[in-house]
Amino acid sequence: MKRAKLIIITGTPGTGKTTVAKLLCDRLGYEQIDWHDLLKQNKKLSLGYDRSSKCYDLNIKILRKVIDEILKNNPLKIFVFDTHISHLLPKKIIDLAIVMKCSNLKKLRERLEGRKYGKKKIEENLQCEIFDECFDAIVELGVKHIVVDSSKKIVQKELVKGVSMLV
Ligand SMILES: Nc1ncnc2c1ncn2[C@@H]1O[C@H](COP(=O)(O)OP(=O)(O)OP(=O)(O)O)[C@@H](O)[C@H]1O
Ligand SMILES: [Mg+2]
Repeated sequence: MKRAKLIIITGTPGTGKTTVAKLLCDRLGYEQIDWHDLLKQNKKLSLGYDRSSKCYDLNIKILRKVIDEILKNNPLKIFVFDTHISHLLPKKIIDLAIVMKCSNLKKLRERLEGRKYGKKKIEENLQCEIFDECFDAIVELGVKHIVVDSSKKIVQKELVKGVSMLV
């Protein structure tokens, strides 16, 4: 059965996933799968809010099912799903992964502080970036991927061209 193509954008919070997702959708007519809309529309997706880590616990099985349905119901489209847990999707439905980085940790810290995250959450996210956790997850998954560093100037034209050729 034909299904839509899927680009996932992963990376530590604040590395620019949504910014790049919006750029690709604007320039290439791709469609963004909005994480917050998914949570609102599928009550079973969330297993509840974890107050200590300040994020939602997810039902991965339901997430896979929901994304798979979107892809099957829109076979001619190209979707972009930007969240740091997008590597939990099965390899077979991912056409390209973009790993966002912010190699300048001072800049990343400033972005996270700008969001009024607590000290603990900021340090956890910086550790995630230092240890390249999202990149390692993608390598382990074994999908075609590119790395984009948002601490340097992103040449939008090159990124758009590169992605459209790879997907
Ligand atoms: N290439 C860039 N150059 C400079 N600033 C950037 C760049 N990309 C993103 N930013 C800035 O970094 C901040 C975080 O960007 P964005 O919201 O896209 O990150 P995110 O990875 O989607 O975060 P989250 O995981 O919390 O959703 C925003 O203030 C954005 O304007
Ligand atoms: Mg985002």
